Amino acid sequence: MRRLVVIAATALGLVAVLSQGPVSANGRPPAVQDQSLKALAARHNLAIGTAISNDALAEPQYKAIATQQFSSVTHENAMKWESLEPTRGTYNWGPADALIDFAKKNNQKVRGHVLVWHNQLPAWLTEGVANGTISKTELRDLLKKHITTVVKRYKGKIWQWDVVNEAASDPWDSPSEIHLKGFWAQNLGPTYIADAFRWARAADPHALLFYNDYNMEAFGDRGPSDKVWFIYNLIKNLRAQGVPIDGFGSQGHLGTQYGNFDAFQVKEVLDAFSDLGMVSAFTEVDVRSQMTAGVQAGDSNEINPRLQASASNFSVLLQACLLNRNCLSYTVWGFTDKHSWVPTWFTDPPEGLATLYDENYQPKRAYNSIKSDLVFAGPPHVQPRPRR
Ligand code: XIL
Repeated sequence: MRRLVVIAATALGLVAVLSQGPVSANGRPPAVQDQSLKALAARHNLAIGTAISNDALAEPQYKAIATQQFSSVTHENAMKWESLEPTRGTYNWGPADALIDFAKKNNQKVRGHVLVWHNQLPAWLTEGVANGTISKTELRDLLKKHITTVVKRYKGKIWQWDVVNEAASDPWDSPSEIHLKGFWAQNLGPTYIADAFRWARAADPHALLFYNDYNMEAFGDRGPSDKVWFIYNLIKNLRAQGVPIDGFGSQGHLGTQYGNFDAFQVKEVLDAFSDLGMVSAFTEVDVRSQMTAGVQAGDSNEINPRLQASASNFSVLLQACLLNRNCLSYTVWGFTDKHSWVPTWFTDPPEGLATLYDENYQPKRAYNSIKSDLVFAGPPHVQPRPRR
């Protein structure tokens, strides 16, 4: 009898514990063992990714963070055409394959970057077109061959492909009306976009195919110089013609000197693409700051506001992603200031401080801000997204 009472009391206690959620004696929630970004994001079915530089992977600290914090990886450069086919007809697959193997070993998904872009093209291709030895017809055939070869090689191994990257002009270009710009539009005309997506789909029917671009955070006035509006309409029209564009990639390269968006503004763009039946992702997030003389001299009056503004921008993009269930992943463009593209690319004025970790691999305020976002987000506004 006493045993039965004990069992009943234990069962009741268990029910009580389960219904209230676990609590420890001091009233705090129990310690959560794995507080990595990827573990915290997993409960939202959200992937947290990073671009990876193959060279940096040789550093143990870099490798440890890349493995422990991130559930998705992107080749920062190794899958670009100039890296894959530096000499016509000779592919250099080694570095690209190595990261695919690394991802598999670490149970990480891969965002493939990038199939069609006007930058980082092999010299034999751009020079051949410039000197007329490669005709327009041949160029189209070469593009088809490139997409087919690369996508087939990695068939089944790439979760999301950036098929077309940065096709649109910016409002500061001339003319200021947004238009298709760059090598591919100039040489093949606007139809290359539909072609590229169709060729990619034929080579791997299951990879999610993305259009990827920068300055895509918020709609402007929806007029001729509004880049987001231009891309939205371009994709809407292409999809209406049956072009297989599954995803909208918003790169998310921000700068603290430009002011902030808010999460609901950014969500509006993701929602617009969702309404077209598409998924989305943040694909290259970093938030740079100007490295004034004061910053370089270590003046905290100048450094602190930059670190705070950077954190806030990282957070806004993640919050927007959390608010839209079709936003599948949030990828940062490198995670440490030690290996960020920013200081080499933005030199006049010098910029930096753009990533989640400092040069000594210490997490910055930005890291803790997005960690908080993942911890605090929950129903009803943030629901787990479907697994894909
Ligand atoms: C950058 C890399 O980070 C650099 O290492 C490289 O020298 C130039 O390209 N948008 C993109 C990325 O889509 O491919 C770019 O990556 C950054 C801007």
